[in-house]
Amino acid sequence: MKLFLDTANLADIETALQKGFITGITTNPSLMAKEPKGNYIDHMKKIVGLINQYNANDISLSVEVFAQAKEDIIIQAEELVGDIEYENLSIKVPIGWEELEAIYKLSISGISVNCTCIFSEAQCMLATNAGARYISIFGNRVKELRGSFTQAVGATRKWLDMNDITNTEIIMGSIRSGIDIVDAQLAGAHIVTAGLSHYIKMSEHPGTDSSVDQFMTDFKEWLA
Ligand code: E4P
Repeated sequence: MKLFLDTANLADIETALQKGFITGITTNPSLMAKEPKGNYIDHMKKIVGLINQYNANDISLSVEVFAQAKEDIIIQAEELVGDIEYENLSIKVPIGWEELEAIYKLSISGISVNCTCIFSEAQCMLATNAGARYISIFGNRVKELRGSFTQAVGATRKWLDMNDITNTEIIMGSIRSGIDIVDAQLAGAHIVTAGLSHYIKMSEHPGTDSSVDQFMTDFKEWLA
């Protein structure tokens, strides 16, 4: 399963790029709003600058539209693609009846769409059939509404596989712990997107610490 970083924070992106474990970056308007005020495009260009600096141009970058009418979504998506100038850019468009038309038109025009704010397998089917490259299920927000993200991810993955659909991948976002990441993988998500703090915690285990401590103690005795 691929690991994406869910942030617009430049320092976190640089840290993750240095460690080489991410194959994508996802942003959204709320994540952007945590960053210092400024120009949206300039900020995205800074992210692209970091990706280039680490020679990581195969990394997928998802940037969300903030327009809401379908015609405006299409115009804004095209502008983002033109201004950000990044080969592996995907445009995040929320799922919705009106939005499906934008997802379809953008996809057939060759723009990679990450359909976002998905809460059900039914929404996944619509977005996939409209041409979305990624379908982003909001794991813990599903749970908060008493739904099951493992059901949504599992049923969607089964449907994709049964129909040999390989050009659409499930991203599970809205991660709150390392356990969510493992659960998403077991349910069949192709990708998880999570904040840096979750990956830091995933790298740690008390058993690792005690093993390393013991190795160092034993070896120091041998060296002495
Ligand atoms: C996914 O693409 C979204 O950016 C994100 O994971 C939403 O998660 P949240 O519930 O932590 O805001």
